[in-house]
Amino acid sequence: TKTFGILTAGGDCPGLNAAIRGVCRAAHDRYNMTALGIAYGFRGLIEGDSRVLSPDDFSGILTRGGTILGAGREKPFKAPPAHGDTEVSLDKVEAIKENYRQLGLDCLVILGGNGTNTTGYLLAREGLNVVGLPKTIDNDIVGTDRAFGFNSALAIGTEAIDRLHSTAQSHSRVMVIELMGHKAGWLALYAGVAGGGDIILIPEIPYDIKVIGRHLEDRARDGKTFSIVVVAEGALSIVEDKMDKKEKKKYRSETVTPSIAYRVAREIEAETGMETRATVLGYVQRGGIPSASDRVLATSLGTAAADLLARGEYGRMVALSGDGISSVDLSVPAGKVKTVPRDHYMVDTAVSVGTCMGVE
Ligand code: F6P
Repeated sequence: TKTFGILTAGGDCPGLNAAIRGVCRAAHDRYNMTALGIAYGFRGLIEGDSRVLSPDDFSGILTRGGTILGAGREKPFKAPPAHGDTEVSLDKVEAIKENYRQLGLDCLVILGGNGTNTTGYLLAREGLNVVGLPKTIDNDIVGTDRAFGFNSALAIGTEAIDRLHSTAQSHSRVMVIELMGHKAGWLALYAGVAGGGDIILIPEIPYDIKVIGRHLEDRARDGKTFSIVVVAEGALSIVEDKMDKKEKKKYRSETVTPSIAYRVAREIEAETGMETRATVLGYVQRGGIPSASDRVLATSLGTAAADLLARGEYGRMVALSGDGISSVDLSVPAGKVKTVPRDHYMVDTAVSVGTCMGVE
């Protein structure tokens, strides 16, 4: 019988526990395998921090948010800083390989986003047996139609937009809401359409504040007393691209988390004179229970990962493909980010219902 290590790396998201349960239940009940839970992502594998998971550990966790294993952003292959850091990453890779051997692992199951699956690909090239699962609220993983976590975050973002509508209407204001998504605009685009945002700004489409101003003024002329602007956090890159190095450094140092929402709100007030407020939804988008759809996706991806383990099909990431579950070589997601194509049907859908995407 096989023994595998399982870890959750990168930021957490709803559905991680459902996926852990899916992998471990199928591996235990159908294939009689042993699961070792590795703590805090790759850090646990570097430090040898793991424990055997018994059926009790993966029972009753389907609906729980976060991850029972703990998450971590350790990237063992990342180049070390030029000086001052004694922990050379090569040592970390060697430590991982050594602990993999010492723990007697036949395979490593990694639950994560782009960074994690890239690390998985590199570890597979180092000779380790790896199976990846795609999780992220950003939905930016190449090789799968959807990652689990996205649907839950979409529901939270949509509810926030719904709630902003009533207060925007009461005060006749423009409300700007910033959603996560890292470098991609999926979450803002989908939540913006679901919540009826009047303007949606995503990093893939550079916006023109004059166009935004005109759209808001047109709405006011049509008798609309308020407007909702949904902006993806990644749209900050559009603003930063126009800055020189010094300006960018100053801008970044001004806040713990640089925000595009406040900047857009200020630009709107300057352009239109309309009273504007900003909301940064933040980590609430990653918290709490997974949606039904994410539970289903995480469970099926989890059990499919156990099937790959049983068949000894390593170096692959399980994926949603159309209406079925498949798998792709780990080289497919490695080092890539799936962004919103300009001609994506959802951009067209948004424009067709009168939403301004920041350009004419
Ligand atoms: O990848 C998920 C995500 O929540 C992104 O949307 C966001 O940019 C990032 O993680 C935040 O990272 P951290 O948890 O390290 O602050």
